[in-house]
Amino acid sequence: MSKAPKPVFVCQECGSQSAKWLGRCPDCDAWNSFVEERAVEPSAGGGGLAAGGHRYSMPGGTGGAKKYADIENSDTARLTTGIDEFDRVLGGGIVPGSLVLLGGEPGIGKSTLLLQAAANFARVHGPVLYASGEESEHQVKSRGERLGVGDAPLFLLAETCVERILEEIGRVRPRLLVVDSIQTVFSLKFQSAPGSIGQVREAATQFLFTAKGHDLPTFLVGHVTKDGALAGPKVLEHVVDTVLYFEGERHHSHRVVRAIKNRFGAISELGVFEMTGGGLRPVPNPSQMFLAERPTATPGSAVLCCVEGSRPLLVEVQALVSTATYGTARRMAVGIDSGRVSLLLAVLEKRAGLVLVGEDVYVNIAGGMSLDEPAADLAVIAALASSVRNRPIVQGTAVFGEVGLGGEVRGVPQAPLRLREARQLGFTRVVLPASNLDDDSRQQADDAGTTLVGVRHVGEALDVLLG
Ligand code: TYD
Ligand code: MG
Repeated sequence: MSKAPKPVFVCQECGSQSAKWLGRCPDCDAWNSFVEERAVEPSAGGGGLAAGGHRYSMPGGTGGAKKYADIENSDTARLTTGIDEFDRVLGGGIVPGSLVLLGGEPGIGKSTLLLQAAANFARVHGPVLYASGEESEHQVKSRGERLGVGDAPLFLLAETCVERILEEIGRVRPRLLVVDSIQTVFSLKFQSAPGSIGQVREAATQFLFTAKGHDLPTFLVGHVTKDGALAGPKVLEHVVDTVLYFEGERHHSHRVVRAIKNRFGAISELGVFEMTGGGLRPVPNPSQMFLAERPTATPGSAVLCCVEGSRPLLVEVQALVSTATYGTARRMAVGIDSGRVSLLLAVLEKRAGLVLVGEDVYVNIAGGMSLDEPAADLAVIAALASSVRNRPIVQGTAVFGEVGLGGEVRGVPQAPLRLREARQLGFTRVVLPASNLDDDSRQQADDAGTTLVGVRHVGEALDVLLG
């Protein structure tokens, strides 16, 4: 007879383990995060494809070490999802055998996007298994009707038991698996509740083995908590090949899917969608959409050329500086790091002579975008100064560049890409770091009739921008 399994307490925030319950996690300092989890002896576990413990070999692997030069360079063929914006975030389509996590707040469109992708995929590449632990087959179907799934070989399974899903894989032999969501499934090998860190890790690991062992690309849906973290298990991000997040606000119709980690492509890659009555539609020209409602000739608005992954985007940076009526002045930033905004405010005071003490400062990236590129600095500075001086930025002008603490404007990567996007959207003047001005970009700008103004210092930039 086998011994009863020892109880182990696991921190639900970071996965740290302890033999006894602790009030505070010694690793991540979270309070009251330890939960008892019991592993079931391996022999008692359900069958399925992943049975046999945690050993697996990669497809084509012989087990032994191979010399680098002898390994064939199999340029992994990408499988298209039929949705070009989604393929783009994935780095050019689905890589066979990859495990992808799609995170996002409830109701943002995870199930909708994956159902659309699953149907398209099934039509082209063969059967797809969509395992839903959240909705019944009827619910998924009624959504599918709106999305025009039609007669694609799509198999729906309302199931939360990992071993059952794996069994069904053996039966259906799908080319793609979708698990909606990882927090609702549980493995028989664990006694703790679905959604606990042990369960989530175990289930994800089993799906990982199946994905690698059977070359079965797998999408896992993951819920996100209010503060933007993947609910509980950060551990998931390490297990999977690719982590995608849905961004944007539910109140806006557009949605942004961003790659946070990608073993097979660029990170920060963006896909932009619009939620319509018939599901998510790719937005062919996101810059146009982000600039659609931009006020012209209004102080405090600057157009920035940023680059997300391999995609140039024009977005509007808005600033409002107004005298604080009582108490300490407020500083608020939406869509951009508020620490960075404070730093830029200090640069403006010290290096450009603006007086900001006692002023409320609000900075917002229009359209719900979030930016973390230093190239946004100059646009933030421009919007702030424009609001303080109550002068609009000269029409038809776009801007980019990093700003240092000395007030110097520094060069940024991918300047030609940014300039091209600005030209395409009809901007006639671009203010950029002087070090980004080379003969090539000058020539191109001349041909297109765009004026490029290279600047070295914020003071110089403000003179040019505010006229
Ligand atoms: P859903 O994919 O269920 O979100 P998640 O799986 O991330 O929780 O998206 C649900 C939202 O999308 C819901 O508010 C309704 C809306 N929606 C549309 O506007 N059009 C559609 O065609 C569909 C299917 C959903
Ligand atoms: Mg859902």
